[in-house]
Amino acid sequence: MALVTSKEMFEKAYQGGYAIGAFNVNNMEMIQGIVKAGTEVNAPLILQVSAGARKYANPTYLKKLVEAAVIESGLPIVLHLDHGDSFELCKSAIDDGFTSVMIDASKYSMEENIRITRQVVEYAHDRGVVVEAELGKLAGVEDDVNVDAKDAMFTNPEEAAEFVQATGIDSLAIAIGTSHGAFKFGPDTKPMLRFDILEQVGKLLPNFPIVLHGASSVPQDRVKIINENGGAMPNAIGIPEEMLRQAATMAVCKINIDSDLRVAFTSAIRKYFNENPAHFDPRQYLTPARTAIYEIVKHKLINVLGCAGKA
Ligand code: G3H
Ligand code: 13P
Ligand code: ZN
Repeated sequence: MALVTSKEMFEKAYQGGYAIGAFNVNNMEMIQGIVKAGTEVNAPLILQVSAGARKYANPTYLKKLVEAAVIESGLPIVLHLDHGDSFELCKSAIDDGFTSVMIDASKYSMEENIRITRQVVEYAHDRGVVVEAELGKLAGVEDDVNVDAKDAMFTNPEEAAEFVQATGIDSLAIAIGTSHGAFKFGPDTKPMLRFDILEQVGKLLPNFPIVLHGASSVPQDRVKIINENGGAMPNAIGIPEEMLRQAATMAVCKINIDSDLRVAFTSAIRKYFNENPAHFDPRQYLTPARTAIYEIVKHKLINVLGCAGKA
């Protein structure tokens, strides 16, 4: 089996009331942990690479690691560019063999967003590659993604329908209250998602796959391990998993998870070094880190996304 696009995955997910997990990958151990979980529960997977990940690991290395995952697992796997911020970056990922790209021109005006997105759609569709775009702004901070909370803006459902029609995209990321990073809500803020917007989008765009970015739940048991082993992550609060589960039964077909993987990976390494301060073989501390990725992804696939057994 070769890398696949998300077209058929999303059709089945929409009809089946579940979502596909889109996990950010930066190195071999993360890919192995995710793919072991996917293989064990027989789930389709989206492995996504950000501009920062391309810089860190080199696109060729990541592509070859993901190809190895396909060979080893036999699972349907999509290789997706996360938050491509220009036509040139999307083109480069498509030329490198990615089967899906995100053009994120959400920081521009609607007209400019449509113009850039259409350009990517034209290039991608001619080469059998699918395109995700974004309308509305998410709050939060990642290496290359930074939108102030005050700039966060919910997606307007009518504009979403117009945007899909005007661009010919295959899936749309919308802003309904999720945000990037591990610190999504202040200690006194109640997590809240605008399910009314999601419902309205679903009505205006029947059978059209919606994407949720910034959807980590930030597992408190892992944050505790980090903090008990010399870390400092107070008030790291994410999206409640029941809310993600609910979104997955609606129009949401792709749920993006990065911060949860970072927290899990780091918690295992911190704990390992605290317990084994004299060790220095990377294989020793990367083994529990890889296991932590496997455990959290397996939990997400079964209990949150509902896509176990759907490969
Ligand atoms: O949404 C952004 C992803 O979490 C990627 O983060 O740019 O730090 O790799 P990154
Ligand atoms: P989190 O930071 O919530 O994991 O979101 C990741 C994401 O949206 C990647 O595009
Ligand atoms: Zn994102």
